[in-house]
Amino acid sequence: MRILITGSNGLLGQKLIKLLCDEEVEVIATSRGSNRLPNDGQYQYESLDIVNQQQVLDVVSKYKPDVIINTAAMTNVDQCETEKEACWELNVNAVKYLIEACEVTGTHLLHISTDFIFDG
Ligand SMILES: NC(=O)c1ccc[n+]([C@@H]2O[C@H](COP(=O)([O-])OP(=O)(O)OC[C@H]3O[C@@H](n4cnc5c(N)ncnc54)[C@H](OP(=O)(O)O)[C@@H]3O)[C@@H](O)[C@H]2O)c1
Repeated sequence: MRILITGSNGLLGQKLIKLLCDEEVEVIATSRGSNRLPNDGQYQYESLDIVNQQQVLDVVSKYKPDVIINTAAMTNVDQCETEKEACWELNVNAVKYLIEACEVTGTHLLHISTDFIFDG
């Protein structure tokens, strides 16, 4: 099985890469910019900014993963309030780009949501 992680430089992404590399799966780590994790060749790294729709389609089409685990997000809730447009682009529109790319390749998308729930 081939699993692609988005936001692999983040807290959850880093942990998932470490855990999945101990399993019998092929791991593709992606995040924006360069890789900040140690890599002894157990996984491949590809730079992927998920707000870039074409890049999302290109990378997903290139690897045709069985599963994508989306851990890329704007996670700072105060920043989400002050930068609403950027937040919407990353936490909503980019997820749509991933869904659309997954529909092309038949990939199963696992989207990690939040435990922050507010009334209204
Ligand atoms: N950690 C928890 O306890 C927890 C609990 C419940 C739910 N979650 C959910 O799990 C997900 C991941 O959380 P986390 O704690 O791992 O967050 P995090 O440490 O903030 O990691 C998010 C990662 O997303 C990357 N990213 C931001 N914009 C991107 C883009 N346009 N394209 C690609 N990557 C991008 C960030 O890159 P940079 O590092 O370069 O900024 C960062 O590495 C979130 O949806 C969060 O709500 C986490």
